Amino acid sequence: MKKKITFAKHKKTSRNKMILVTGGAGYIGSHTVVELQEQGYDVIIVDDLSNSQINVIDNIRKITTKKTRFEQFNLADNTRTTKFFAENPIDAIIHFAAHKYVGESVKEPLRYYYNNFVSTLNILQAIEKHDIRHFVFSSSCTVYGQADSLPVTEQSPVKPAECPYGNTKQVIEEILQDICLAVAQLQVISLRYFNPIGAHASALIGELPVGVPQNLVPYITQTAIGKRDCLQVFGNDYNTTDGTCLRDYIHVVDLAKAHVVALDRMLNKKMKKNYEVFNIGTGKPSSVLEIIQSFEKASQMPLPYKFVERRKGDIEKIWADTTCANTVLGWKAEKTLDDMIRSAWNWEKALKENNK
Ligand code: UD1
Repeated sequence: MKKKITFAKHKKTSRNKMILVTGGAGYIGSHTVVELQEQGYDVIIVDDLSNSQINVIDNIRKITTKKTRFEQFNLADNTRTTKFFAENPIDAIIHFAAHKYVGESVKEPLRYYYNNFVSTLNILQAIEKHDIRHFVFSSSCTVYGQADSLPVTEQSPVKPAECPYGNTKQVIEEILQDICLAVAQLQVISLRYFNPIGAHASALIGELPVGVPQNLVPYITQTAIGKRDCLQVFGNDYNTTDGTCLRDYIHVVDLAKAHVVALDRMLNKKMKKNYEVFNIGTGKPSSVLEIIQSFEKASQMPLPYKFVERRKGDIEKIWADTTCANTVLGWKAEKTLDDMIRSAWNWEKALKENNK
């Protein structure tokens, strides 16, 4: 007679909570892993390294001196993802892994939709199967588009997405809300990030763009270090104080800490509803020219830049109302713009030093 095989259920006993950080080798993910470990969480990173590098894992280990488990695969691979969840008892998930460039998403929408949706759906299926109850989603202020009134609160209308990348954030937020309505025990927090910049104080981890940077601050630091000739400032005829766009720049370490606070909120059963959303920014707008000035102050050198045409798809201005994050979540950004820019510059210089 065939013997019936039964699988022992993973025992969740007194060990530290195990947090899966998808995209944990990436820019925001790596800083979040550090903060989680420093707060006593155990972490396992899943990352396909498509937009990050293996030495990030070593550098995280150097900072925290903790064991950081890492598995390399793409979560859009259902077989591999299913196997991973069957083998690893996970208490909570912070989901960063996604393609993230606005312009690239316009050129390659199918690649963006496939990767960002399929990986998230695979994880959500695993959540259902293994009864995982805590999920933090990496959303974006991009969901507000060009808001009619500023600053934006979490109740500000979600505007039709300007690009496939933005659309994936909006639709995944909707999927999560639907699932939360259907599954009462699931707790989800979506964090809508404004513009993360800067690097860890150790200068061991930071933003590592592959190829030509699409975002402002890495373009500035690469120009100053000599990798690029000149920063192009996209438009100086906007209806703003100095004609350049306004954004709410936030230090990546402050942003990383918001994830730990969100996780604590869930695990300590403090959520008021089982789906919550928070703006994560400083609440202060800065123009592109103010970023350049802050950089020139930090580096004590002039930055070559020129004004060019507006970039297609750019919004004129956006910044956060952070009341909800400050009072309900109990989190507040602490670092100044100068702190952010100084750390980004230290990181770029450390990269050059290490590549010698
Ligand atoms: C966008 C998305 C954000 C996404 C991020 C990731 C929106 C509203 N925001 O941020 O959700 O997470 O991309 O890629 O869609 N700039 C220059 N020269 C440059 C680069 C940028 O002048 O070489 C200017 C831009 O015009 C903008 C500001 O700098 O005014 C910030 O741009 P960037 O760093 O690319 O971020 P966002 O476009 O705001």
